[in-house]
Amino acid sequence: EGDVFTYDPGFGSTASCESAITYVDGDKGELLYRGYPIDQLAEKSHFLEVCYLLVYGELPSGEQLEDFENRVTRHTMLHEQMQYFYRGFRRDAHPMAVVCGVVGAMSAFYHDSTDINDPWQREVATIRLIAKMPTICAWAYKYSIGQPFVYPRNDLDYASNFLHMCFAVPCEDYKVDPILARAMDRIFTLHADHEQNASTSTVRLAGSSQANPFACIAAGVACLWGPAHGGANQACLEMLREIGTPDRIPEYIERAKDKNDPFRLMGFGHRVYKNYDPRAKVMQESAKEVLELMGVKDNPTLQVAQELEKIALNDPYFIEKKLYPNVDFYSGIILDAMGFPTSMFTPIFALARTVGWISQWKEMIVDPSQRIGRPRQIYTGPTHRDYVDVADRK
Ligand code: SDX
Repeated sequence: EGDVFTYDPGFGSTASCESAITYVDGDKGELLYRGYPIDQLAEKSHFLEVCYLLVYGELPSGEQLEDFENRVTRHTMLHEQMQYFYRGFRRDAHPMAVVCGVVGAMSAFYHDSTDINDPWQREVATIRLIAKMPTICAWAYKYSIGQPFVYPRNDLDYASNFLHMCFAVPCEDYKVDPILARAMDRIFTLHADHEQNASTSTVRLAGSSQANPFACIAAGVACLWGPAHGGANQACLEMLREIGTPDRIPEYIERAKDKNDPFRLMGFGHRVYKNYDPRAKVMQESAKEVLELMGVKDNPTLQVAQELEKIALNDPYFIEKKLYPNVDFYSGIILDAMGFPTSMFTPIFALARTVGWISQWKEMIVDPSQRIGRPRQIYTGPTHRDYVDVADRK
């Protein structure tokens, strides 16, 4: 029932898998989660409902949603001993290094009981990962700034809980602003899944070896860190700050076009989108709302971003190469306005993408035809040759 999309993503037979979770049409700039357009979900839904949709394939009834939210809420705490993993890191360690290490360490706390062939244990691992990522990421932030860990609270919604764990301190009351919480929740929804991107493919490949789900998600975190992928949100804000003022934009545009210059416009371009990334559009609206709230609507970084976008979108090179702003172009501006350091941008991306990773892992694990991944190569090395003793080598 409904449309079954069969499409050639333009890579011929190199499509890595079949999946029913997310559909991206790069030419139209369209993104569907289980058939629902991302802009409708960002406007009308909320992250935990989107998690339910991605994991189970359908929007939940009221009762199903309440049960799912309760199960997630009741798994937000970490095993108390996991705090010791944080203390092994230097305070100035990048939070992604900490998140990658702690998520991998979950294998030591929960893997022993995770039989990936048991549907119930796959379910428990799914809930634990969605529930604990905000705590893991918030504590990585607290550890980096030398503040005490703040425990999750069951009276707060998912996004508010994360903001509270990041910004509350024991010595005074901290109230989460509902507009910030809504913007945070929307950022989670926009980053939740994106078909077979590099980090999701990493999770699938790790999962195809029957590795436990926590180890597979840790592999996804590691891959997402790269500035060409999830690390672009941090790199993009740092680039906008380096540009500083609109009059310096042409210099950077020319550098981005220079093949001899490794500089790339961060937050621009995409492996699949050859049109505007629909997530960037929603993010731009959210940025204006948050900056207004934070009383920084004349934010110089936003002015540089908007001017850069206008110039680039009218530049023949970018038009010919079909380069548009992607999800990372505006997200950093919002997170910066919320008070996050740039080093926390990619952990927040990883927090949101965990539901996509674990949904794709589950879809692969339950497929009876699934075998261990084994990408092939084109060999370009020397042909057969015999060993020569060192005394006889020239
Ligand atoms: C994410 O895959 C996903 O779904 C990822 C993601 C997700 O949700 O998981 O959407 C998240 O990773 C978004 C992308 C974040 N990365 C950045 O913003 C970093 C900056 N972008 C570039 O590094 C680049 O656009 C990539 C890595 C994203 C894509 O690079 P490709 O595969 O080279 O892109 P392309 O084939 O479309 O490039 C066409 C041309 C190339 O030049 P030619 O070889 O044809 O001469 O455009 C050039 C590229 O060199 N180009 C750029 C550019 N991006 C591509 N030139 C200048 N600035 C850029 N940003």
